[in-house]
Amino acid sequence: MKKILITGAKGQLGSELMALSAQQPDFQFIATDVDTLDLTDRHALSHCLKTRQVDYVVNCAAYTAVDKAEDDAALCYKINRDAVQNLAEAATENGVRVIHISTDYVFDGQANTPYKETDAVNPQSVYGTSKLAGEQALQAACPNSIIIRTAWLYSTCGNNFMKTMRRLSAERTELNVVCDQTGTPTYAADLAQAIVEIIAFAEREKTFPTGIYHYSNEGTTTWYEFAQKIIALAGTNCTIKPIPTAEYPTKAARPIYSVLDKSKIKRTFRVNIPAWEDALRRCNSRL
Ligand SMILES: NC(=O)c1ccc[n+]([C@@H]2O[C@H](COP(=O)([O-])OP(=O)(O)OC[C@H]3O[C@@H](n4cnc5c(N)ncnc54)[C@H](OP(=O)(O)O)[C@@H]3O)[C@@H](O)[C@H]2O)c1
Repeated sequence: MKKILITGAKGQLGSELMALSAQQPDFQFIATDVDTLDLTDRHALSHCLKTRQVDYVVNCAAYTAVDKAEDDAALCYKINRDAVQNLAEAATENGVRVIHISTDYVFDGQANTPYKETDAVNPQSVYGTSKLAGEQALQAACPNSIIIRTAWLYSTCGNNFMKTMRRLSAERTELNVVCDQTGTPTYAADLAQAIVEIIAFAEREKTFPTGIYHYSNEGTTTWYEFAQKIIALAGTNCTIKPIPTAEYPTKAARPIYSVLDKSKIKRTFRVNIPAWEDALRRCNSRL
């Protein structure tokens, strides 16, 4: 039975992977988070991979507080770059395959067609720059790795836009939401399912097609439209008012456009990607 170590298993994506683990008779999932395996501890990481005879690591651990990172760059880099470097070295030492999660924030958002894996990166924030540095560290020290860039992640747990909109719409009668940023939400449960399918593909086909891949749900929307759908499903009585980004300043710059082209992941692993509206309905029904 193949052993899959999940880091950041208490986070949004890590929790969804652990939720799927019971339905995977061929894989044994090992859940870790900062309290049991701190990725900044290189020695602990090596020891864990070796003694637990891990075959795959899915790295869901990260520093994800995008605005806070602007004032907290040292810790952000420690987790998003240095810890990934540790993981890369420990994985290579122990012959472990790595699936690492990255972000649409590696792009500057100036495109107007979906971003391909080969498009030029140009992060605009500390978080985006640290995640890009993590990608580069991983690729240099662990060629036996897959990087999945995702965007607008949400789930039933943790802090995310979907849960914030539900909460605020129950407390207020009107909400302002940015209408000029375009992207695609990603339901963490769907990304978790795709990751399990990628590992199953690797085992079945006896190949691990390394490199960068893009994954989000299908379709395109704005935060404004996403908020409208969230509130309609929640059944709260709140009016959503569209506003431009200029009227909602944040510490860290957001990409204006961050739709990801998912052709490569679909072609390579034959994963089926649900539409974002369908994903939102499924997530809502679990709340
Ligand atoms: N959220 C998004 O919208 C979004 C968008 C695009 C890409 N991504 C990427 O997707 C991945 C998963 O994101 P997510 O939203 O599931 O993240 P999350 O909910 O913030 O979970 C990350 C987990 O990693 C843990 N962690 C932090 N430092 C650690 C360390 N040194 N060692 C081990 N674990 C540590 C965190 O613990 P604490 O909570 O105690 O710090 C948390 O449990 C990340 O790589 C993120 O960059 C996220």
